[in-house]
Amino acid sequence: MVELAPSILSCDFSNLQADLDQTKDTDLKMIHIDVMDGSFVPNISFGFKVISDIRDKNDYLFDTHAMIYEPIKYIEEFKKAGVDRLTIHYEACENLDQTIEKIKENDMQVGLTFKPATDLDLIIPYLDKIDLVLVMSVEPGFGGQTFMESSIEKIKILRDYIDNNNLDVLIQVDGGIKTTNVKKVIEAGTDIVVSGSDVFGKDIKNQIDKYYEIFNKKSL
Ligand code: DX5
Ligand code: ZN
Repeated sequence: MVELAPSILSCDFSNLQADLDQTKDTDLKMIHIDVMDGSFVPNISFGFKVISDIRDKNDYLFDTHAMIYEPIKYIEEFKKAGVDRLTIHYEACENLDQTIEKIKENDMQVGLTFKPATDLDLIIPYLDKIDLVLVMSVEPGFGGQTFMESSIEKIKILRDYIDNNNLDVLIQVDGGIKTTNVKKVIEAGTDIVVSGSDVFGKDIKNQIDKYYEIFNKKSL
């Protein structure tokens, strides 16, 4: 079953919970939380206080995408804020193995992601150490960008590798996904679809229902 992880980056931050309330009474199981440091990516989003403030009011899996340098320094803070899964960037960690270990020690699921220009071969050796691999289908940093077609091939390669090696790793795809192009993303082998502007920039409940209608269709 494919799941949707809507990115709260496209919410109205002057009334964040009002947007999140519109996600209730849907099939949604998780939300995607984009944390940016203004250094690893050219944008600053929000930090731990925002995450912990929405934690109590929203019973979703908190799927957090850390676009920050050396996330190892902040793992305890993410845990304290209520994060369930922490996805880190390959390019942002000096010691990736240590960072992965520390996330596990703090009882969070581990996600690993990589910028579009990073060679997929560098990620493959980590697949047996992580819970989720995130394929970036835009340059990380901003919502509302155009989906990069080159990510489809990466999803297919990962799907084959994970299935052939019987690995227990979810494939997530993030950036430029809409109800109008999600079909090919799913067909390539994605487990979790991230969508920001196409959910929180529109009629929120209606969009979530539309995504799940597509996911539930037996043949796409
Ligand atoms: C981009 C973020 C994405 C973004 C997706 O750096 O990682 O999660 O919010 O937004 P859309 O779906 O609008 O491309
Ligand atoms: Zn993201």
